[in-house]
Amino acid sequence: MSVAKKEYKKVTVQSLTEMKSHGEKISMLTAYDFTMAHIVDQAGVDVILVGDSASNVMAGHETTLPITLDQMIYHASSVIRAIKRALVVVDIPFGSYQSDPKEALRSAIRIMKESGGHAVKLEGGEEIKESVKRILNAGIPVMGHLGLTPQSIYKFGTYSVRAKEEAEAKKLIEDALLLESLGCFALVLEKIPAKLAAKVAAQLSIPVIGIGAGAGVDGQVLVIHDLLGMTKEFSPRFLRRYMNLYEDMTKAIGQYVSDVKEKDFPNAQEQY
Ligand code: KIV
Repeated sequence: MSVAKKEYKKVTVQSLTEMKSHGEKISMLTAYDFTMAHIVDQAGVDVILVGDSASNVMAGHETTLPITLDQMIYHASSVIRAIKRALVVVDIPFGSYQSDPKEALRSAIRIMKESGGHAVKLEGGEEIKESVKRILNAGIPVMGHLGLTPQSIYKFGTYSVRAKEEAEAKKLIEDALLLESLGCFALVLEKIPAKLAAKVAAQLSIPVIGIGAGAGVDGQVLVIHDLLGMTKEFSPRFLRRYMNLYEDMTKAIGQYVSDVKEKDFPNAQEQY
């Protein structure tokens, strides 16, 4: 059944709840810089995530752990300058919220004040409850993140599907309900069985956004570099590539190199 879409001039946390209640799916993509964020916003994406995946795709680190709070603020402020419509959510990076709730709040405040972001995202459930509460008490919207939480990669050991076993699935459901009861406005579920994700989405009234979590959730998120086919080696089953930019860009740049070498560029019309 097709759903009549309400136009949102500016997406807010309330718009997302409304979208869920109307059965309108939420689109979310990452962006880390001004130019990309401008395109993503103009294309009509509802939520832009300034993800700590910037550590991988922008800085070339193997994990999301090394990116700093200052670097996240730099990326987020570049994104904020580009957007007109999307809600901008910023990841609080590893090491900036786990040690104590006061530090978590200080990090969230820095993000909001120095970047102009609209909300923050934290990974985890019960174990970060006090931090989530403190940030929410300061009036800062919080998005949760459960399932595969890349900041805990060394605990998991691999990036494979999470919560396949009953005990982990049970804890995930409890954590999701807890995050909702604390006041989180949305939840990301990463790389978990589709059935479990659909069950969580049906139980929660806040929107559940999936990545590798199937179609039964309230929205989808992807890393923009993956969607555009700029990252060649990363090929999980859940990823749909809409372009093959790695090859297109390599070809275009190769052509430029050849044009310079062959003295074809610049031509008479391309100079003063
Ligand atoms: O950092 C990120 O890009 C994320 C998404 C994968 C949800 O957290």
